[in-house]
Amino acid sequence: MTLRLSVIGTGYLGATHAACMAELGYEVIGVDIDPAKVEILQSGRVPFYEPGLPEVLARNIAAGRLRFTTSMAEAAAAADIHFICVGTPQQAGANAADLSQVFGSIQALTPHLRAGALVVGKSTVPVGTAAVLAEQLALTAPTAEVAWNPEFLREGFAVADTLNPDRLVVGVRSQRAEDLLREVYAPLIAQDVPFLVTDFPTAELVKVAANSFLATKISFINAMAEVCEAAGADITQLAEAIGYDPRIGNRFLAAGLGFGGGCLPKDIRAFMARAGELGAEEALAFLREVDQINLRQRTHTVNLALAALDGSFAGKNVTVLGAAFKPDSDDVRDSPALAVAAAIHNAGGKVVVHDPKALANAARVYPTLTYVEDLAEALADAELVLHLTEWPEYREFDPTTLGSPPRQRHLIDARNRLDPVVWRAAGWTYRALGRPTA
Ligand code: UGA
Repeated sequence: MTLRLSVIGTGYLGATHAACMAELGYEVIGVDIDPAKVEILQSGRVPFYEPGLPEVLARNIAAGRLRFTTSMAEAAAAADIHFICVGTPQQAGANAADLSQVFGSIQALTPHLRAGALVVGKSTVPVGTAAVLAEQLALTAPTAEVAWNPEFLREGFAVADTLNPDRLVVGVRSQRAEDLLREVYAPLIAQDVPFLVTDFPTAELVKVAANSFLATKISFINAMAEVCEAAGADITQLAEAIGYDPRIGNRFLAAGLGFGGGCLPKDIRAFMARAGELGAEEALAFLREVDQINLRQRTHTVNLALAALDGSFAGKNVTVLGAAFKPDSDDVRDSPALAVAAAIHNAGGKVVVHDPKALANAARVYPTLTYVEDLAEALADAELVLHLTEWPEYREFDPTTLGSPPRQRHLIDARNRLDPVVWRAAGWTYRALGRPTA
């Protein structure tokens, strides 16, 4: 019999999970409290930019395997396995995660659950959450069960990461829960994707440990960039050289403006907060440094910009290339690029922002910045250009097409991806983070 699944929460994670589970052949119903989002998804469109997802979504809606609703009762009736994919953002004014969506959605689901339902958490949560939910469920829906199955997908590669993950991790308390999840993921297990079975706390910790490691790797290379800058060395060569050691590896070693987005920054903070509650604060003290190094890249970039403009932003035309927190995404949550743009705007600069996909989202967060869709137009009057999100089109852009400037123009490449030779030859000064000045 075809497995019947529900996916609760249809953001980047949930919409992708729902579409990909339908792609595996299951009957899937996605639930969200936002009727506008449900309407868009139900019409076969995706309310955010994620390459490849619209095709998978539309194909499975057309095949009748995938639908969306705002009704939790409908979802509970239509499925036996429920994936919780709601957000766990940082609490306002604190480092800890806000779990209201996790507890709220399970509370709304529980009264409607069918006998023997399996509730599978995918959201990133503080260790211990699954156990609390299991206790609650034991009281309100005694035949239902909880499992934890963290998600490791990257925005921009969400479909590929879901259908071809590096590994699957399931935290379970019963053989039945393990068997059900083995059945769900059977097509992936058949392709030799490692399937790891753990207890609840280990499954929860795997996720935050992985994100903490990635954040640490980025901050490590950015700390090296700071030393390179002080010593007159070149971080891009250093990173290439250490990356050849397979124990280090060359991925996630791109020095620059640092990490942002809806996951890495808030996950390391929530992890520190939870470790504190558990009395293991010291173990994660280094993550405070990881966070500080990361935020320092933003300040450093603003300071380099100020220096290029002789100490004042007042009335100066500054163009920011990139608003998304990384390329191939329209997500501006905790975007390093927008943080720098806003700081320069607040210091009196006339900031123009360009991004191929994220301008609408950026304008919602910072309505006072100027947004320009055409790249050449955005660059035309710039005295200073800041390359802050490494979209391929910035690397491909030929600066000679801008003509000879009436005055000296400056470029700061905070992602170390543009070609200094090309830009200098076109009459620009070029500075990057962690590289020699000339
Ligand atoms: C991250 C993890 O990579 C996923 O495995 C995880 O599932 C996800 O968080 C999550 O918890 O949901 P994502 O937020 O999509 O994925 O973004 P990444 O590709 O990890 O990039 C994070 C940030 O690091 C970006 O701002 C990027 O520009 C920056 N970065 C990345 C660097 O500054 N240098 C690098 O070498 C790599």
